[in-house]
Amino acid sequence: MRPIIRIADWPTEQSALLTIRIAVFVEEQGVPLDLEHDEHDALATHLLAADEHGERIGTARLLSSGHIGRMAVLAAHRGRGIGSALLLELLRLAHQRGLREVFLNAQCSAESFYERHGFVREGEIFVDAGIDHVRMVRSLAD
Ligand SMILES: CC(C)(COP(=O)(O)OP(=O)(O)OC[C@H]1O[C@@H](n2cnc3c(N)ncnc32)[C@H](O)[C@@H]1OP(=O)(O)O)[C@@H](O)C(=O)NCCC(=O)NCCS
Repeated sequence: MRPIIRIADWPTEQSALLTIRIAVFVEEQGVPLDLEHDEHDALATHLLAADEHGERIGTARLLSSGHIGRMAVLAAHRGRGIGSALLLELLRLAHQRGLREVFLNAQCSAESFYERHGFVREGEIFVDAGIDHVRMVRSLAD
């Protein structure tokens, strides 16, 4: 399935974005609700993925620093390339904006997913919201 991916407007579409993030991070992974939404959301570039029926099934965000985060695809829609399509679109946007590098704090279970997209592990494993993470970076140099 080829998802439709577009930039979402935080002020008017935050409830659609948060519905996906809460389902994935809070309800599925047990992240506390107050850690899910932060002060970066208002300034971030958010993506929203929809399926062929217009159902909203995934999201991700990019901060001006190059920090990629909040990658989330609803469980029923995983493994069909939606997460990869979201990530590739963020890489394209970051490159277009002149960023030379992007980085993220990967959940260790998703490390191989990011490795496949050119990210390299940097540093030691750390715990955030009760989940093991590792920082990963990806160069955008031509
Ligand atoms: C990470 C995530 C966004 C990937 O979305 P997706 O639509 O399934 O991604 P794709 O279909 O493009 O790629 C899936 C591949 O990555 C692997 N993968 C991705 N996340 C994984 C995870 N948390 N655990 C194990 N494998 C994972 C899948 O096994 C699959 O590999 P395969 O193609 O060899 O079977 C999605 O799994 C998700 O929302 N996970 C829960 C939230 C999360 O962990 N977010 C990442 C925070 S760093």
